[in-house]
Amino acid sequence: MTTAHAQPAIDAIREQLRQAGQEHLLTFVDQITPEQRSALLAQIASLDLRSLPGLIERYVRASSDAAKGSSAKIEPVPYFAADHTSKDRGWDREAYARKGRELIGAGKIAAFTVAGGQGSRLGYDGPKGCYPGGAVTGKPLFACLADWILAAQERYRPATGSIPWYIMTSPLNHEATVAFFKANGYFGLKSTDVMFFPQGVMPSLDLKTGRVLLSQKHEVALNPDGHGGSLKALYTSGAIDDMAKRGVEHISYTQIDNPLVRVIDPAFIGLHAASPQSSGEMSSKMVAKSDPGEKVGVLCKVNGRVGVIEYSDLPAELAQARDADGGLTYSAGSIAVHMIGVEFVRRLNAGAGGAGGGFTLPFHRAEKKVPFVDLSTGQRVEPTSNNAVKLEAFVFDALPMAARSIVLETQRLDEFAPIKNATGSDSPASCAEIQTRRAARWLGGAGCRVPYKNCGAVDAVIEISPRTAMDAGEMRAGGAGAAKVPAAIPSGAKVVI
Ligand code: UD1
Repeated sequence: MTTAHAQPAIDAIREQLRQAGQEHLLTFVDQITPEQRSALLAQIASLDLRSLPGLIERYVRASSDAAKGSSAKIEPVPYFAADHTSKDRGWDREAYARKGRELIGAGKIAAFTVAGGQGSRLGYDGPKGCYPGGAVTGKPLFACLADWILAAQERYRPATGSIPWYIMTSPLNHEATVAFFKANGYFGLKSTDVMFFPQGVMPSLDLKTGRVLLSQKHEVALNPDGHGGSLKALYTSGAIDDMAKRGVEHISYTQIDNPLVRVIDPAFIGLHAASPQSSGEMSSKMVAKSDPGEKVGVLCKVNGRVGVIEYSDLPAELAQARDADGGLTYSAGSIAVHMIGVEFVRRLNAGAGGAGGGFTLPFHRAEKKVPFVDLSTGQRVEPTSNNAVKLEAFVFDALPMAARSIVLETQRLDEFAPIKNATGSDSPASCAEIQTRRAARWLGGAGCRVPYKNCGAVDAVIEISPRTAMDAGEMRAGGAGAAKVPAAIPSGAKVVI
Protein backbone atom coordinates (compact mmCIF):
# COMPACT_ATOMS: atom_id res chain seq x y z
CA MET A 1 0.00 0.00 0.00
CA THR A 2 1.08 3.58 -0.59
CA THR A 3 2.08 5.20 2.71
CA ALA A 4 0.30 8.41 3.60
CA HIS A 5 3.44 10.56 3.71
CA ALA A 6 4.56 9.41 0.25
CA GLN A 7 1.24 10.31 -1.38
CA PRO A 8 1.93 14.02 -2.14
CA ALA A 9 5.22 13.14 -3.85
CA ILE A 10 3.53 10.48 -5.95
CA ASP A 11 0.74 12.88 -6.85
CA ALA A 12 3.25 15.45 -8.07
CA ILE A 13 5.09 12.86 -10.13
CA ARG A 14 1.80 11.52 -11.48
CA GLU A 15 0.93 14.99 -12.72
CA GLN A 16 4.31 15.41 -14.44
CA LEU A 17 3.89 11.99 -16.03
CA ARG A 18 0.37 12.84 -17.14
CA GLN A 19 1.63 15.95 -18.91
CA ALA A 20 4.23 13.84 -20.72
CA GLY A 21 1.68 11.12 -21.58
CA GLN A 22 3.47 8.57 -19.37
CA GLU A 23 1.14 8.15 -16.40
CA HIS A 24 1.03 4.38 -16.97
CA LEU A 25 4.46 4.10 -15.36
CA LEU A 26 2.66 4.24 -11.99
CA THR A 27 0.17 1.48 -12.89
CA PHE A 28 1.58 -0.92 -10.29
CA VAL A 29 2.76 1.58 -7.69
CA ASP A 30 0.34 0.17 -5.09
CA GLN A 31 1.51 -3.41 -5.63
CA ILE A 32 5.26 -2.98 -5.04
CA THR A 33 7.36 -2.79 -1.86
CA PRO A 34 8.38 0.61 -0.39
CA GLU A 35 11.99 0.01 -1.55
CA GLN A 36 10.84 -0.80 -5.06
CA ARG A 37 8.62 2.29 -5.03
CA SER A 38 11.53 4.53 -4.04
CA ALA A 39 13.67 3.01 -6.78
CA LEU A 40 10.90 3.48 -9.38
CA LEU A 41 10.29 7.09 -8.38
CA ALA A 42 14.04 7.81 -8.50
CA GLN A 43 14.20 6.30 -12.00
CA ILE A 44 11.25 8.40 -13.14
CA ALA A 45 12.83 11.51 -11.62
CA SER A 46 15.98 10.88 -13.70
CA LEU A 47 14.00 10.88 -16.98
CA ASP A 48 13.90 14.08 -18.99
CA LEU A 49 10.10 14.12 -19.13
CA ARG A 50 9.90 17.51 -20.80
CA SER A 51 11.75 16.42 -23.93
CA LEU A 52 9.99 13.05 -24.15
CA PRO A 53 6.84 14.04 -26.10
CA GLY A 54 8.98 15.69 -28.80
CA LEU A 55 11.25 12.63 -29.06
CA ILE A 56 8.28 10.29 -29.33
CA GLU A 57 6.71 12.42 -32.02
CA ARG A 58 9.90 12.51 -34.04
CA TYR A 59 11.37 9.05 -33.59
CA VAL A 60 8.33 6.83 -32.99
CA ARG A 61 5.33 8.50 -34.64
CA ALA A 62 7.20 10.05 -37.60
CA SER A 63 9.89 7.28 -37.53
CA SER A 64 12.51 9.79 -38.55
CA ASP A 65 16.20 9.33 -37.93
CA ALA A 66 19.02 11.79 -37.50
CA ALA A 67 20.75 10.63 -40.63
CA LYS A 68 17.92 9.43 -42.84
CA GLY A 69 15.69 11.21 -45.26
CA SER A 70 17.90 14.25 -45.61
CA SER A 71 18.68 15.90 -48.90
CA ALA A 72 22.19 16.76 -47.78
CA LYS A 73 24.95 17.42 -50.29
CA ILE A 74 27.44 14.57 -49.86
CA GLU A 75 31.02 14.68 -51.17
CA PRO A 76 34.18 12.65 -50.56
CA VAL A 77 36.28 13.92 -47.66
CA PRO A 78 39.84 15.23 -48.12
CA TYR A 79 42.36 13.47 -45.91
CA PHE A 80 46.01 13.24 -44.91
CA ALA A 81 47.26 10.16 -46.80
CA ALA A 82 48.81 7.21 -44.96
CA ASP A 83 51.71 7.52 -47.41
CA HIS A 84 53.01 10.89 -46.28
CA THR A 85 55.78 10.70 -48.87
CA SER A 86 53.42 10.54 -51.87
CA LYS A 87 54.14 13.22 -54.48
CA ASP A 88 50.76 14.92 -54.64
CA ARG A 89 49.51 14.22 -51.10
CA GLY A 90 52.75 14.35 -49.08
CA TRP A 91 52.87 15.95 -45.63
CA ASP A 92 55.49 16.36 -42.93
CA ARG A 93 54.66 13.40 -40.74
CA GLU A 94 57.73 13.72 -38.54
CA ALA A 95 57.03 17.38 -37.70
CA TYR A 96 53.49 16.52 -36.57
CA ALA A 97 54.65 13.42 -34.68
CA ARG A 98 57.20 15.63 -32.89
CA LYS A 99 54.44 18.06 -31.95
CA GLY A 100 52.33 15.14 -30.71
CA ARG A 101 55.19 13.77 -28.59
CA GLU A 102 55.68 17.23 -27.08
CA LEU A 103 52.01 17.43 -26.10
CA ILE A 104 52.02 13.92 -24.61
CA GLY A 105 55.28 14.66 -22.78
CA ALA A 106 53.76 17.84 -21.32
CA GLY A 107 50.78 15.88 -19.96
CA LYS A 108 48.27 17.50 -22.29
CA ILE A 109 46.80 14.27 -23.67
CA ALA A 110 44.41 11.79 -22.04
CA ALA A 111 43.17 8.45 -23.34
CA PHE A 112 39.42 7.88 -23.42
CA THR A 113 37.68 4.61 -24.22
CA VAL A 114 33.98 3.99 -24.70
CA ALA A 115 33.31 0.61 -23.13
CA GLY A 116 29.61 0.68 -22.38
CA GLY A 117 28.99 -2.34 -24.60
CA GLN A 118 28.53 -5.92 -23.51
CA GLY A 119 30.06 -8.96 -25.21
CA SER A 120 26.60 -10.30 -26.06
CA ARG A 121 27.14 -10.41 -29.86
CA LEU A 122 30.12 -12.67 -29.07
CA GLY A 123 28.05 -14.90 -26.82
CA TYR A 124 29.99 -13.50 -23.84
CA ASP A 125 28.09 -12.46 -20.73
CA GLY A 126 30.13 -9.54 -19.41
CA PRO A 127 31.67 -6.20 -20.33
CA LYS A 128 33.12 -6.32 -23.85
CA GLY A 129 36.47 -5.09 -22.50
CA CYS A 130 36.90 -8.30 -20.47
CA TYR A 131 36.74 -10.39 -23.66
CA PRO A 132 40.06 -11.96 -24.79
CA GLY A 133 41.87 -9.83 -27.40
CA GLY A 134 45.50 -11.03 -27.51
CA ALA A 135 46.04 -13.56 -30.34
CA VAL A 136 48.33 -15.75 -28.21
CA THR A 137 48.06 -14.47 -24.62
CA GLY A 138 44.27 -14.15 -24.78
CA LYS A 139 44.71 -11.05 -22.65
CA PRO A 140 41.50 -9.04 -22.28
CA LEU A 141 40.76 -6.13 -24.58
CA PHE A 142 41.19 -3.79 -21.60
CA ALA A 143 44.74 -5.15 -21.11
CA CYS A 144 45.54 -4.67 -24.81
CA LEU A 145 44.68 -0.96 -24.53
CA ALA A 146 46.39 -0.63 -21.13
CA ASP A 147 49.60 -2.06 -22.62
CA TRP A 148 49.52 0.60 -25.32
CA ILE A 149 49.15 3.32 -22.69
CA LEU A 150 52.03 1.82 -20.67
CA ALA A 151 54.17 1.73 -23.82
CA ALA A 152 53.31 5.37 -24.57
CA GLN A 153 54.14 6.39 -21.00
CA GLU A 154 57.49 4.60 -21.20
CA ARG A 155 58.39 6.37 -24.42
CA TYR A 156 56.87 9.85 -24.15
CA ARG A 157 56.55 10.52 -20.41
CA PRO A 158 59.44 8.61 -18.86
CA ALA A 159 59.93 11.18 -16.08
CA THR A 160 56.40 11.29 -14.67
CA GLY A 161 54.94 8.21 -16.24
CA SER A 162 51.32 9.35 -16.39
CA ILE A 163 48.81 9.36 -19.21
CA PRO A 164 45.37 9.40 -17.60
CA TRP A 165 42.80 6.95 -18.95
CA TYR A 166 39.08 7.69 -18.74
CA ILE A 167 36.75 4.76 -19.34
CA MET A 168 33.06 5.16 -20.06
CA THR A 169 31.03 2.21 -18.82
CA SER A 170 27.26 1.79 -18.85
CA PRO A 171 25.00 1.29 -15.84
CA LEU A 172 24.82 -2.36 -16.98
CA ASN A 173 28.54 -3.05 -16.67
CA HIS A 174 30.00 -0.30 -14.48
CA GLU A 175 30.54 -2.36 -11.32
CA ALA A 176 31.79 -5.40 -13.20
CA THR A 177 34.29 -3.23 -15.11
CA VAL A 178 35.66 -1.50 -12.02
CA ALA A 179 35.92 -4.86 -10.20
CA PHE A 180 37.77 -6.36 -13.19
CA PHE A 181 40.38 -3.58 -13.13
CA LYS A 182 40.85 -3.96 -9.37
CA ALA A 183 41.19 -7.74 -9.62
CA ASN A 184 43.81 -7.31 -12.36
CA GLY A 185 45.89 -4.62 -10.64
CA TYR A 186 44.77 -2.00 -13.19
CA PHE A 187 46.87 -3.90 -15.74
CA GLY A 188 50.02 -2.20 -14.47
CA LEU A 189 48.68 1.37 -14.58
CA LYS A 190 48.40 3.51 -11.46
CA SER A 191 44.87 3.18 -10.08
CA THR A 192 44.75 6.97 -9.66
CA ASP A 193 45.30 7.38 -13.40
CA VAL A 194 42.28 5.28 -14.42
CA MET A 195 38.86 6.91 -14.07
CA PHE A 196 35.52 5.24 -14.73
CA PHE A 197 32.14 6.83 -15.27
CA PRO A 198 28.86 5.40 -16.54
CA GLN A 199 27.13 6.76 -19.59
CA GLY A 200 23.55 8.00 -19.51
CA VAL A 201 20.43 6.03 -20.38
CA MET A 202 17.29 6.59 -22.42
CA PRO A 203 13.91 4.98 -21.88
CA SER A 204 12.91 2.25 -24.33
CA LEU A 205 9.70 3.25 -26.13
CA ASP A 206 6.80 1.11 -27.26
CA LEU A 207 7.02 0.83 -31.05
CA LYS A 208 3.30 1.44 -31.60
CA THR A 209 2.33 3.96 -28.93
CA GLY A 210 5.62 5.61 -27.98
CA ARG A 211 4.88 4.93 -24.31
CA VAL A 212 7.89 4.24 -22.09
CA LEU A 213 8.03 0.51 -21.33
CA LEU A 214 8.20 -0.98 -17.85
CA SER A 215 10.69 -3.84 -17.67
CA GLN A 216 9.29 -4.82 -14.23
CA LYS A 217 6.33 -3.47 -12.30
CA HIS A 218 8.84 -1.38 -10.36
CA GLU A 219 11.36 -0.69 -13.13
CA VAL A 220 11.45 1.46 -16.27
CA ALA A 221 13.02 -0.19 -19.33
CA LEU A 222 16.18 1.79 -20.02
CA ASN A 223 18.92 1.45 -22.63
CA PRO A 224 22.38 3.08 -22.78
CA ASP A 225 22.23 6.35 -24.73
CA GLY A 226 24.89 5.36 -27.29
CA HIS A 227 28.56 6.36 -27.42
CA GLY A 228 27.39 9.83 -28.40
CA GLY A 229 26.29 10.10 -24.78
CA SER A 230 29.99 10.22 -23.93
CA LEU A 231 30.24 13.92 -24.80
CA LYS A 232 27.65 14.72 -22.18
CA ALA A 233 28.85 12.12 -19.66
CA LEU A 234 32.46 13.39 -19.90
CA TYR A 235 31.11 16.71 -18.70
CA THR A 236 28.47 15.73 -16.15
CA SER A 237 30.68 13.06 -14.54
CA GLY A 238 33.36 15.63 -13.71
CA ALA A 239 35.88 13.96 -16.06
CA ILE A 240 36.35 17.20 -17.99
CA ASP A 241 37.07 19.10 -14.76
CA ASP A 242 39.50 16.38 -13.71
CA MET A 243 41.26 16.70 -17.08
CA ALA A 244 41.47 20.47 -16.67
CA LYS A 245 43.07 20.03 -13.22
CA ARG A 246 45.63 17.70 -14.73
CA GLY A 247 46.36 20.13 -17.57
CA VAL A 248 44.88 17.84 -20.24
CA GLU A 249 43.88 19.69 -23.44
CA HIS A 250 43.02 16.92 -25.87
CA ILE A 251 41.32 13.53 -25.57
CA SER A 252 42.28 10.49 -27.62
CA TYR A 253 38.99 8.66 -28.17
CA THR A 254 38.87 4.93 -28.96
CA GLN A 255 36.40 2.05 -28.83
CA ILE A 256 37.07 -1.02 -26.70
CA ASP A 257 36.62 -3.55 -29.49
CA ASN A 258 39.93 -3.15 -31.36
CA PRO A 259 43.04 -4.64 -29.70
CA LEU A 260 45.33 -3.09 -32.33
CA VAL A 261 44.11 0.45 -31.75
CA ARG A 262 46.89 3.04 -31.36
CA VAL A 263 45.43 4.49 -28.19
CA ILE A 264 47.95 7.34 -28.17
CA ASP A 265 49.30 8.26 -31.60
CA PRO A 266 51.75 11.19 -31.78
CA ALA A 267 51.28 11.98 -35.50
CA PHE A 268 47.47 12.03 -35.21
CA ILE A 269 47.66 14.12 -32.04
CA GLY A 270 50.03 16.58 -33.72
CA LEU A 271 47.83 16.94 -36.82
CA HIS A 272 44.71 17.45 -34.72
CA ALA A 273 46.35 20.04 -32.46
CA ALA A 274 48.61 21.89 -34.88
CA SER A 275 47.51 21.51 -38.49
CA PRO A 276 46.09 24.77 -39.94
CA GLN A 277 43.28 22.64 -41.40
CA SER A 278 42.21 21.61 -37.89
CA SER A 279 40.50 23.75 -35.26
CA GLY A 280 41.73 21.28 -32.62
CA GLU A 281 38.12 20.39 -31.83
CA MET A 282 37.46 16.96 -33.34
CA SER A 283 39.48 14.85 -35.79
CA SER A 284 39.10 11.35 -37.20
CA LYS A 285 41.05 8.39 -38.53
CA MET A 286 40.06 6.35 -41.56
CA VAL A 287 41.13 3.25 -43.43
CA ALA A 288 40.37 2.61 -47.10
CA LYS A 289 37.19 0.52 -47.16
CA SER A 290 37.86 -3.12 -48.10
CA ASP A 291 34.67 -3.36 -50.23
CA PRO A 292 31.48 -1.34 -50.81
CA GLY A 293 29.57 -3.43 -48.27
CA GLU A 294 32.05 -3.24 -45.40
CA LYS A 295 30.17 -2.38 -42.20
CA VAL A 296 32.00 0.78 -41.29
CA GLY A 297 30.73 4.34 -41.18
CA VAL A 298 32.01 6.52 -44.04
CA LEU A 299 33.72 9.86 -43.47
CA CYS A 300 32.30 12.34 -45.98
CA LYS A 301 31.66 16.00 -46.41
CA VAL A 302 28.01 16.61 -45.64
CA ASN A 303 26.83 20.07 -46.69
CA GLY A 304 30.46 21.13 -46.74
CA ARG A 305 31.31 19.85 -43.23
CA VAL A 306 33.18 16.71 -42.22
CA GLY A 307 30.86 14.02 -40.86
CA VAL A 308 30.25 10.26 -40.77
CA ILE A 309 27.40 8.51 -42.54
CA GLU A 310 26.76 5.15 -40.87
CA TYR A 311 26.96 2.17 -43.25
CA SER A 312 23.26 1.45 -42.84
CA ASP A 313 22.42 5.03 -43.91
CA LEU A 314 24.78 5.41 -46.90
CA PRO A 315 22.71 5.24 -50.12
CA ALA A 316 23.72 2.15 -52.14
CA GLU A 317 24.62 4.20 -55.23
CA LEU A 318 27.14 6.19 -53.17
CA ALA A 319 28.54 3.06 -51.45
CA GLN A 320 29.11 1.49 -54.90
CA ALA A 321 30.33 4.65 -56.71
CA ARG A 322 33.82 4.42 -58.21
CA ASP A 323 36.37 6.98 -59.43
CA ALA A 324 37.91 6.91 -62.90
CA ASP A 325 40.80 4.83 -61.49
CA GLY A 326 38.36 2.19 -60.18
CA GLY A 327 38.73 3.05 -56.50
CA LEU A 328 35.68 3.60 -54.31
CA THR A 329 34.65 7.26 -54.34
CA TYR A 330 33.44 7.03 -50.74
CA SER A 331 36.31 4.95 -49.44
CA ALA A 332 37.01 6.66 -46.11
CA GLY A 333 36.01 3.98 -43.61
CA SER A 334 35.74 5.33 -40.06
CA ILE A 335 37.65 3.25 -37.51
CA ALA A 336 35.92 5.20 -34.72
CA VAL A 337 39.13 6.82 -33.50
CA HIS A 338 38.98 10.54 -32.82
CA MET A 339 40.93 13.32 -31.16
CA ILE A 340 38.62 15.64 -29.24
CA GLY A 341 39.51 19.00 -27.67
CA VAL A 342 38.65 19.40 -23.98
CA GLU A 343 37.41 22.92 -24.75
CA PHE A 344 35.19 21.55 -27.52
CA VAL A 345 33.42 19.23 -25.06
CA ARG A 346 33.05 22.11 -22.64
CA ARG A 347 31.64 24.38 -25.36
CA LEU A 348 29.08 21.81 -26.52
CA ASN A 349 27.81 21.35 -22.97
CA ALA A 350 27.98 25.00 -21.99
CA GLY A 351 25.95 25.87 -25.07
CA ALA A 352 23.12 23.81 -23.62
CA GLY A 353 22.62 25.96 -20.57
CA GLY A 354 25.90 25.45 -18.80
CA ALA A 355 24.89 22.59 -16.53
CA GLY A 356 25.48 20.01 -19.24
CA GLY A 357 22.08 18.47 -18.55
CA GLY A 358 20.52 19.74 -21.76
CA PHE A 359 23.17 18.69 -24.28
CA THR A 360 22.49 15.76 -26.57
CA LEU A 361 23.45 14.88 -30.08
CA PRO A 362 20.66 13.92 -32.47
CA PHE A 363 19.35 10.40 -31.87
CA HIS A 364 19.28 7.41 -34.14
CA ARG A 365 16.40 5.00 -33.72
CA ALA A 366 16.73 1.23 -33.64
CA GLU A 367 13.83 -1.18 -33.49
CA LYS A 368 14.55 -3.94 -30.94
CA LYS A 369 12.98 -6.67 -28.83
CA VAL A 370 12.65 -5.35 -25.28
CA PRO A 371 11.01 -7.47 -22.53
CA PHE A 372 8.19 -5.54 -20.89
CA VAL A 373 5.32 -5.78 -18.40
CA ASP A 374 1.86 -5.99 -19.98
CA LEU A 375 -0.08 -3.20 -18.30
CA SER A 376 -3.40 -5.05 -18.44
CA THR A 377 -2.19 -8.36 -16.94
CA GLY A 378 0.90 -7.33 -14.98
CA GLN A 379 2.73 -10.24 -16.66
CA ARG A 380 6.24 -9.85 -18.07
CA VAL A 381 6.40 -10.56 -21.80
CA GLU A 382 9.46 -11.71 -23.78
CA PRO A 383 8.63 -10.43 -27.28
CA THR A 384 9.43 -12.55 -30.32
CA SER A 385 9.47 -9.60 -32.73
CA ASN A 386 10.57 -5.99 -32.43
CA ASN A 387 8.30 -4.15 -30.02
CA ALA A 388 10.39 -1.15 -29.01
CA VAL A 389 12.34 1.83 -30.25
CA LYS A 390 15.70 2.47 -28.63
CA LEU A 391 17.32 5.87 -29.06
CA GLU A 392 21.09 6.16 -29.29
CA ALA A 393 23.40 9.06 -30.07
CA PHE A 394 26.58 8.54 -32.13
CA VAL A 395 29.73 10.44 -31.19
CA PHE A 396 30.61 11.20 -34.81
CA ASP A 397 27.54 13.42 -35.08
CA ALA A 398 29.60 16.02 -33.20
CA LEU A 399 32.08 16.26 -36.11
CA PRO A 400 30.07 18.87 -38.08
CA MET A 401 30.04 21.04 -34.95
CA ALA A 402 33.80 21.51 -35.20
CA ALA A 403 34.93 24.59 -37.12
CA ARG A 404 37.62 22.68 -39.02
CA SER A 405 38.03 18.93 -38.83
CA ILE A 406 40.80 16.80 -40.32
CA VAL A 407 40.91 13.14 -41.33
CA LEU A 408 44.02 10.96 -41.22
CA GLU A 409 44.28 7.80 -43.31
CA THR A 410 45.98 4.86 -41.62
CA GLN A 411 46.99 1.36 -42.66
CA ARG A 412 44.33 -1.18 -41.81
CA LEU A 413 46.87 -3.90 -41.02
CA ASP A 414 48.68 -1.69 -38.55
CA GLU A 415 45.76 -0.60 -36.43
CA PHE A 416 42.34 -1.99 -37.24
CA ALA A 417 41.25 -5.49 -36.27
CA PRO A 418 38.02 -5.12 -34.28
CA ILE A 419 36.29 -8.01 -32.57
CA LYS A 420 32.54 -7.64 -33.08
CA ASN A 421 31.12 -10.95 -34.31
CA ALA A 422 31.52 -14.52 -33.05
CA THR A 423 32.64 -15.77 -36.48
CA GLY A 424 33.58 -14.46 -39.94
CA SER A 425 34.75 -10.90 -40.45
CA ASP A 426 35.60 -8.81 -37.38
CA SER A 427 35.70 -11.96 -35.23
CA PRO A 428 38.27 -13.27 -32.71
CA ALA A 429 39.68 -15.50 -35.50
CA SER A 430 40.03 -12.68 -38.08
CA CYS A 431 41.54 -10.44 -35.40
CA ALA A 432 44.16 -13.08 -34.44
CA GLU A 433 44.97 -13.52 -38.14
CA ILE A 434 45.49 -9.77 -38.64
CA GLN A 435 47.62 -9.55 -35.48
CA THR A 436 49.77 -12.37 -36.87
CA ARG A 437 50.08 -10.85 -40.34
CA ARG A 438 51.06 -7.51 -38.85
CA ALA A 439 53.63 -9.17 -36.58
CA ALA A 440 55.01 -11.16 -39.53
CA ARG A 441 55.46 -7.97 -41.55
CA TRP A 442 57.14 -6.09 -38.74
CA LEU A 443 59.39 -9.05 -37.83
CA GLY A 444 60.23 -9.78 -41.48
CA GLY A 445 61.25 -6.14 -41.87
CA ALA A 446 63.52 -6.54 -38.85
CA GLY A 447 65.38 -9.50 -40.36
CA CYS A 448 63.47 -12.35 -38.64
CA ARG A 449 62.63 -15.45 -40.71
CA VAL A 450 58.85 -15.97 -40.57
CA PRO A 451 57.35 -19.31 -41.74
CA TYR A 452 54.64 -19.19 -44.41
CA LYS A 453 52.26 -21.90 -45.66
CA ASN A 454 51.95 -22.59 -49.39
CA CYS A 455 48.73 -20.59 -49.50
CA GLY A 456 50.66 -17.53 -48.31
CA ALA A 457 49.28 -17.49 -44.75
CA VAL A 458 51.72 -17.19 -41.84
CA ASP A 459 52.44 -20.65 -40.37
CA ALA A 460 52.36 -19.48 -36.75
CA VAL A 461 50.35 -17.29 -34.40
CA ILE A 462 52.28 -14.19 -33.31
CA GLU A 463 51.38 -11.42 -30.90
CA ILE A 464 53.55 -8.35 -30.41
CA SER A 465 53.17 -6.35 -27.22
CA PRO A 466 53.19 -2.59 -27.81
CA ARG A 467 55.70 -2.41 -24.97
CA THR A 468 58.12 -4.25 -27.30
CA ALA A 469 57.35 -2.28 -30.45
CA MET A 470 54.63 0.23 -31.31
CA ASP A 471 55.39 0.19 -35.04
CA ALA A 472 57.51 -1.44 -37.72
CA GLY A 473 60.29 1.12 -37.23
CA GLU A 474 60.69 0.28 -33.55
CA MET A 475 60.80 -3.41 -34.42
CA ARG A 476 63.53 -2.75 -37.01
CA ALA A 477 65.45 -0.94 -34.30
CA GLY A 478 65.36 -4.15 -32.23
CA GLY A 479 62.30 -3.43 -30.08
CA ALA A 480 62.36 -1.67 -26.73
CA GLY A 481 65.13 -2.54 -24.27
CA ALA A 482 67.08 -5.73 -24.88
CA ALA A 483 67.02 -6.99 -28.47
CA LYS A 484 63.65 -8.70 -28.87
CA VAL A 485 63.77 -9.73 -32.49
CA PRO A 486 64.30 -13.50 -32.81
CA ALA A 487 66.31 -14.87 -35.74
CA ALA A 488 63.39 -17.08 -36.79
CA ILE A 489 59.89 -18.16 -35.78
CA PRO A 490 59.40 -21.94 -35.82
CA SER A 491 56.61 -23.34 -38.02
CA GLY A 492 53.35 -23.84 -36.14
CA ALA A 493 54.62 -21.89 -33.11
CA LYS A 494 52.60 -19.57 -30.90
CA VAL A 495 54.86 -16.69 -30.02
CA VAL A 496 54.55 -13.56 -27.90
CA ILE A 497 57.15 -10.89 -28.50
C1 UD1 B 1 31.09 1.33 -34.98
C2 UD1 B 1 30.68 2.60 -35.75
C3 UD1 B 1 31.09 2.53 -37.19
C4 UD1 B 1 32.58 2.28 -37.29
C5 UD1 B 1 32.92 1.00 -36.53
C6 UD1 B 1 34.43 0.79 -36.49
C7 UD1 B 1 28.62 3.21 -34.66
C8 UD1 B 1 27.16 3.40 -34.75
N1 UD1 B 1 29.23 2.72 -35.69
O1 UD1 B 1 30.25 0.28 -35.40
O2 UD1 B 1 30.79 3.74 -37.88
O3 UD1 B 1 32.96 2.17 -38.63
O4 UD1 B 1 32.47 1.07 -35.18
O5 UD1 B 1 34.75 -0.34 -35.76
O6 UD1 B 1 29.22 3.51 -33.67
N2 UD1 B 1 29.35 1.83 -26.94
C9 UD1 B 1 29.18 2.39 -25.71
N3 UD1 B 1 27.92 2.74 -25.34
C10 UD1 B 1 26.83 2.56 -26.14
C11 UD1 B 1 27.02 1.98 -27.40
C12 UD1 B 1 28.30 1.62 -27.79
O7 UD1 B 1 30.13 2.57 -24.96
O8 UD1 B 1 25.73 2.93 -25.74
C13 UD1 B 1 30.72 1.44 -27.36
C14 UD1 B 1 30.92 -0.06 -27.43
O9 UD1 B 1 31.38 -0.57 -26.20
C15 UD1 B 1 31.98 -0.16 -28.50
C16 UD1 B 1 31.69 1.02 -29.42
O10 UD1 B 1 30.93 1.92 -28.67
O11 UD1 B 1 33.27 0.04 -27.99
C17 UD1 B 1 31.06 0.65 -30.77
O12 UD1 B 1 29.73 0.37 -30.65
P1 UD1 B 1 28.95 -0.59 -31.63
O13 UD1 B 1 27.52 -0.36 -31.39
O14 UD1 B 1 29.46 -1.98 -31.44
O15 UD1 B 1 29.28 -0.01 -33.08
P2 UD1 B 1 29.68 -0.82 -34.39
O16 UD1 B 1 28.48 -1.37 -35.06
O17 UD1 B 1 30.74 -1.76 -34.04
